[in-house]
Amino acid sequence: MRLDKFICKSTNLTKIEASQRIHLGEVRVNGDIANNEATQVHENNIILLNGNPLKTRPFRYIMMHKPAGTICSNIDEVYPSLFNYLDLENVAELHIVGRLDVDTTGMVLISDDGRWSFNITRPSQHCSKVYRVGLSKKITEDARSLFKRGIQLQGEPQLTLPAHLELITPTEVLLSLTEGKFHQVKRMFAAVGNRVLSLHREKIGEVSLDIKTGQWRDLTNDEIQSFTK
Ligand code: URA
Repeated sequence: MRLDKFICKSTNLTKIEASQRIHLGEVRVNGDIANNEATQVHENNIILLNGNPLKTRPFRYIMMHKPAGTICSNIDEVYPSLFNYLDLENVAELHIVGRLDVDTTGMVLISDDGRWSFNITRPSQHCSKVYRVGLSKKITEDARSLFKRGIQLQGEPQLTLPAHLELITPTEVLLSLTEGKFHQVKRMFAAVGNRVLSLHREKIGEVSLDIKTGQWRDLTNDEIQSFTK
């Protein structure tokens, strides 16, 4: 990690303030004064600010139940940011692992551990996601077999990976996907002549949503580890 980021993650200094401290010669890495904020440092390095050893805060791993009408962004735009629901310090350090659309509800993972997040979102990991989908029309047997075979989405070079559909009612399904293309669920149903009226993510990997809308909780150690298997 960059030295200025390390200082931010171990103090309450902003990036600009961290950089200023470095240029004032207040920071030492393994005994030497550091003068470049881009220097790569590691947890095992001894990093001192004015002689005081720095240690980064532990990573955070959070589950949140996203309400409709919020956006998966760190800042408010036309709609309010999901982060307004997080009463935590240093929220700017957190990022969302796999975004949902403004009208989609359900489970969102949030962390400041980029490696962990990448492990969940990288396509080769095939991390499963389960969505409860409300549809404008009855699901057909044809659509079920197309979802199983893979669907050709506009602008995509390859078919979608096999997806599993479980019928709850003729117009409500549980859809399990192992990839996360842009607007994938809505585009898949549009490709078979249907339309998504409601979309809710219930599960990611082995972890199910178990909190009320607008609430959040820390993931347990087992849940955190389940994504790195
Ligand atoms: N697929 C979509 O179309 N929208 C979402 O929010 C998530 C998956």
